[in-house]
Amino acid sequence: MSPVNDGFSVEIQDKVKVDCEACGDAGRDVVEESVGAGSADSVGRAETLAGGFESTISLTLTAFDTRHYQDLIRTRAATIRRVVRALKPALGLHNALDAGCGVGFFSQTLTELGLETRGFDGRLENVVEARKRFPKVAFESGDIESAEITALGAFDLVLCFGLLYHLESPMRAIRHLRALTGKGLVIESMCVPGDEVRMMLRDEPFQNDQSLTDMAFYPSESCVVKMLYRAGFHHVYRLTRLPEHDDFRATSDHERRRTISFASDRPVAVACLERVAEPRGGRDPWTKLGPEPETLVARVRRFLSKPGRMRYVALANRVRRVVPSMPLPLRLPFRAWWLAEHSALDRELIHDGFETAEAEFVARFLRPGMTVLDVGAHHGLYTLLASRLVGRNGRVIAFEPSPRERRRLERHLWVNRCGNVDVQSCALGECAGEANLYLVEGMHDWCNSLRVPHIEERTSKVRVEVRRLDDVLEGFNWPRIDFIKVDVEGGELSFLHGARRMLGGEVRPAILVEVQDIRTVPWGYSAREIVRCLANEGYGWFALADDGSLESISSELSSYDGNFVALPCERFGEFCEMGLGLSKPPVETFQDSRGTVRACRENEFVGG
Ligand SMILES: C[S@@+](CC[C@H](N)C(=O)[O-])C[C@H]1O[C@@H](n2cnc3c(N)ncnc32)[C@H](O)[C@@H]1O
Repeated sequence: MSPVNDGFSVEIQDKVKVDCEACGDAGRDVVEESVGAGSADSVGRAETLAGGFESTISLTLTAFDTRHYQDLIRTRAATIRRVVRALKPALGLHNALDAGCGVGFFSQTLTELGLETRGFDGRLENVVEARKRFPKVAFESGDIESAEITALGAFDLVLCFGLLYHLESPMRAIRHLRALTGKGLVIESMCVPGDEVRMMLRDEPFQNDQSLTDMAFYPSESCVVKMLYRAGFHHVYRLTRLPEHDDFRATSDHERRRTISFASDRPVAVACLERVAEPRGGRDPWTKLGPEPETLVARVRRFLSKPGRMRYVALANRVRRVVPSMPLPLRLPFRAWWLAEHSALDRELIHDGFETAEAEFVARFLRPGMTVLDVGAHHGLYTLLASRLVGRNGRVIAFEPSPRERRRLERHLWVNRCGNVDVQSCALGECAGEANLYLVEGMHDWCNSLRVPHIEERTSKVRVEVRRLDDVLEGFNWPRIDFIKVDVEGGELSFLHGARRMLGGEVRPAILVEVQDIRTVPWGYSAREIVRCLANEGYGWFALADDGSLESISSELSSYDGNFVALPCERFGEFCEMGLGLSKPPVETFQDSRGTVRACRENEFVGG
């Protein structure tokens, strides 16, 4: 897996500039919404909180940079990577076209996947912004509803995400996409609920991520499939696994909103796709026979046809409609119990699982007897996993400064009888003292931060103690630490600065860390500084494949977006024996930032 640049684009520069020119008034609202109440201050004038880093940053924000859109981009980009990796060898893909590319995030994803990519968009301002953000990709303006677009020629892969339902003439657009497609078309669309082949005409807001006109047809999923067949594709597929985002699944409060299809002229046999037949013989709306009401037997049958977990969730949701505060007990894949309430993480765990590649990696890495730090333990997902894996002779130290989150963490530890976990109530940072912790008052309670988080929900403040990890470990008499998971909503760099002595120790831990600009913006630094910081300490960097194995990445990329693993170079040989998907590098020595001689440089690491 290569790291993506399809996240929030942020640059650290000498002067503050929030540029709204490209997005007009709508964009201006978005800027305010994106930057968040009070955080314009923290973006423009980076303060020093336990971090010692001071800089100002320049952003060009568009509708695509709102938090909601960024979540959608991230999860869809993960799916694009998974699907294109499977299709590339199967179809022999070399180039790609991103139709309706917006400001170019997915064009960049395709480029990183090794496809020579072009992108086009109906709005010149998006094309201009895309060229600025991703100068290595060729972008131009073009209208998918106009036949002129087919003059671009044919591309091995055409990607058309987020465009179909913004159009007045979707069928015509699909015909043009057919003409542009050499080997395969991956198309994503919002879809109206229901199994019928139908379209709904909607008024559209005038924004730079929407329709060029003020109305558009929204198709049902079956309608997308039918149009693909009727445009001349012989084989249409659905994805066996859709992106891990609420828009792609039915939840207790809405039907599934989006779908992704793949269409090709020839059959494609890859595990991520399953064939769908052309829908035929829909109900005649003018029939004299009224619709048949669903019988009780049919309802029971429909209920029983759901997977066991969904049956359980459906029943529990009915009960929760009456008693909303009732937690929903869930069995996690590693057999621990989880009491789901109403936070975003609970929702992820109920429906699909959460950070499954990260969990796979942790399971490959941890051994009985190890000592683990869970920094930013939240409600204890990683703490529970680590507690099981390190067993009785191991130990987990979980740091969670929010009293509200700690209550749920401790309840999970109690329910699962975790006797090997030590909960610490302080935050970790570079300077010991006290600070405000901003608690998110809505579903996204995993975004609590020592800075006002980049989020649309309200926050409240609580005073918390901040300690340096080195001081905490001193208090524990410097135990050997084998593994650290750190996810502290932008406080990662500050955390590392307070852990200098540990990072210079004899046996240094592996570290799983969140590296995302959207989290570090309120702190006034770019997430790549986290990568640079550990690289200077002699750590090599790895991305996670779906199965939890590691793939070596450069520490010199311009941006990173996701969870990554840092391994100390001198222990690389040892890690190769652990089944992490690594192979042995040539050994070389180098001096880290404090002059310590270490075994090898990170760019000699080889990913599996
Ligand atoms: C919702 S955004 C999708 C951006 C990106 N593909 C994604 O999924 O995140 C829709 C984009 O389609 C563009 N667009 C709207 N109508 C178009 C048309 N007829 N031809 C080409 N692009 C169009 C808009 O300007 C906007 O950038």
